[in-house]
Amino acid sequence: MDINGIFKHNEEWVSKQLQEDSNYFEKLSQGQNPKYLFIGCSDSRVSADIIMAAKPGDVFIHRNIANLVPNNDLNVLSVINYSVNHLRVSDVVVCGHYNCGGVKVAMKASDEGLLNPWLRHIRDVYRLYKNELSAIEDIDDRYDRLVELNVKEQCINLIKTRDIQKALQEERIQVHGWVFDLKTGKLIDLKIDFEKIKREIMDVYNLFD
Ligand code: CO
Repeated sequence: MDINGIFKHNEEWVSKQLQEDSNYFEKLSQGQNPKYLFIGCSDSRVSADIIMAAKPGDVFIHRNIANLVPNNDLNVLSVINYSVNHLRVSDVVVCGHYNCGGVKVAMKASDEGLLNPWLRHIRDVYRLYKNELSAIEDIDDRYDRLVELNVKEQCINLIKTRDIQKALQEERIQVHGWVFDLKTGKLIDLKIDFEKIKREIMDVYNLFD
């Protein structure tokens, strides 16, 4: 679609919404009350709204290369803080995807210039699970597994944060790790056992009694 086509499409969309509900935009402008925070990859094929069949107002979204939750990234931490404490979302999702370019480039030795420090977060995940990953002989299977393990580690980074710990303690949110499979269009719940993870790591990361 060319640039002018986008504006034409927008006009058509506005008319369609107004036909269905003449107050649609007035209501939309009143405020938002999303149930979900979605942290996904910037990849142009992983469109959160479409995957989740969500409408405007349903999902608060943060996207970056390879759906990372770095411990000192003020951008993602601000999104978490605002959505969990102010918008009061009930579910926080980290959604990775197979065929993730960020994960792929992090798997091999290469100098990616400015991207090096960002990709290092994924390389750190690779190091953490090196034994498991090296035992997978098929390179595509290993790549898929690193995508999954990266989602798991970013979920762990979530539960290291003050905002998520507090909300979990107050039992007002749930954390989920998902993967989107581009080859089938399916959304997969990794069913990460957070209770087990918490038992294993919270003696190190717990901020509250
Ligand atoms: Co990606």
